[in-house]
Amino acid sequence: MTIIEQAELERQQRYIGQIGQCLDAYRSETGFSRRYWIHTYGCQLNENDGEKIAGLLAEMGYIESGDLREADLIILNTCSVREHADDRLFGNLGRLKNLRLEKPDLVIAVCGCMMKQPEHVTRISRSFAFVDLIFGPQDIYRLPELLYHRLTEGKKQYLVGDEDTLVEGLPVHRARRFRALCSIMFGCNNFCTYCIVPYTRGRERSRQPGDILRELRQLAASGYREVMLLGQNVNSYGQDIGDSDAAIRDFADLLQAAAHEPFYRIRFMTSHPKDISEKLLQVMAAHPVIEPHLHLPLQSGSNRVLERMNRQYSREQYLAIVRRARQLIPGLAISTDIIVGFPGETEEDFAATLDVLEQVRFASAFTFLYSRRTGTPAAEMADPVDPAVMHERFTRLTALQDAHSLDVNRQNLGQSVEILVEGASAKQEQVFSGRTGQNQLVNFTVADPALLPAEARRPDGGIDGNRLEGGLARVRILEAKTFSLFGVLEAYRP
Ligand code: SAH
Ligand code: SF4
Ligand code: F3S
Repeated sequence: MTIIEQAELERQQRYIGQIGQCLDAYRSETGFSRRYWIHTYGCQLNENDGEKIAGLLAEMGYIESGDLREADLIILNTCSVREHADDRLFGNLGRLKNLRLEKPDLVIAVCGCMMKQPEHVTRISRSFAFVDLIFGPQDIYRLPELLYHRLTEGKKQYLVGDEDTLVEGLPVHRARRFRALCSIMFGCNNFCTYCIVPYTRGRERSRQPGDILRELRQLAASGYREVMLLGQNVNSYGQDIGDSDAAIRDFADLLQAAAHEPFYRIRFMTSHPKDISEKLLQVMAAHPVIEPHLHLPLQSGSNRVLERMNRQYSREQYLAIVRRARQLIPGLAISTDIIVGFPGETEEDFAATLDVLEQVRFASAFTFLYSRRTGTPAAEMADPVDPAVMHERFTRLTALQDAHSLDVNRQNLGQSVEILVEGASAKQEQVFSGRTGQNQLVNFTVADPALLPAEARRPDGGIDGNRLEGGLARVRILEAKTFSLFGVLEAYRP
């Protein structure tokens, strides 16, 4: 692992300054600012990386463009977790080709997890040669240098480093105003046999607790109400730091320290069942600011499949964690990830997964068709499941989970729930939305505008949803659906 030193960051800072001068000159000549457009695929860790890229660009003087066609710099931050994600990148690159022909000084960059797989870089250099910049997830801090060389010398810059890096202090241009993402660690050591992440993200690296807490303090001071602590397996946070005298040695300690910062809510993802501790559950139970929500990926309910997946827990251990967590944390919502059609999965194995669903009754689940990832051990397993069988199981799985999600949501009917407001609903006028501490989506209307502060009320009698963002609302639930709740506002606190 390489810790990126201050001197290197200062070197990059000089490139930021030089690009800034070029952009200033362009602005005085043309009256226009240079604009960037970024799209991030995949998980929230990648989203947080996208925010760091945006942060660097903002320091150079680029402005974010809502419209791809108006951008001078387009960045695709990729994910390779499933084949579908790969296909989308190449589809989108095909469409960018014409844009590039219309606009010769457009700069196109591709980064993220797919770039750690040499076959994708080769395919881009052969078939999408108009791509100007390529860099890996570990090389984000070098973007200023790459972009500077591309802009001043016109040459392509492809750089995918082999080293696992840990960088502190990159600027972050946050996509959301009230919910902040905070990556506490990078990489993964678990090597689940189906998963590409350990190959694209490298070995586990934990940030120093002091650096994380400093970031949290800044977030709280700048008005963030909710923070989400991120890692591929937060439960192994700190294992690589190895300072046994430190006050913060593991994730439970870190979460406990975070709970003292003035947030409304703290969430975290993802908890690997093999590493979850009694101490972590106790910390969750002791601090109401930590949401009563646990994302605990099951993957399969069959011990035989779990073993072939190298998950390192059994269905019995999983069920025991669920029981203990529910005992300690009242109202806890548990969500999960499930893969259908892992090589060798029999009808009996699949039935065991459905059985765990019945026993746990998850609040929600992300369900995936197994996707073969070249380079992973599962890709070499000789007994793939027939795609038709896989799809049929998938349909049964989602039908059962949907029924459970609806049941769980129905328990809120008639109740008053507290939500953190995210703003106006995208679909309906004068409908607003937010999430409960259990991460349920709640849409609501306002029957009595007098419940809201004056600045949220428009002169025409309507309500400005943007002004509600980040506030806490009490909502009486009138309707429960599979993926959301609906109700009416009872009280609001900015
Ligand atoms: N670190 C997290 C998961 C990250 S990937 C964890 O261990 O829980 C998110 C989810 O994608 C995984 O939980 C898994 O369900 C799914 N996934 C990963 N690789 C996959 C593959 N090859 N095919 C199908 N789903 C996959
Ligand atoms: Fe992939 Fe397993 Fe690591 Fe999660 S824990 S990122 S599923 S290897
Ligand atoms: Fe995808 Fe990379 Fe995240 S493979 S899920 S973007 S770590």
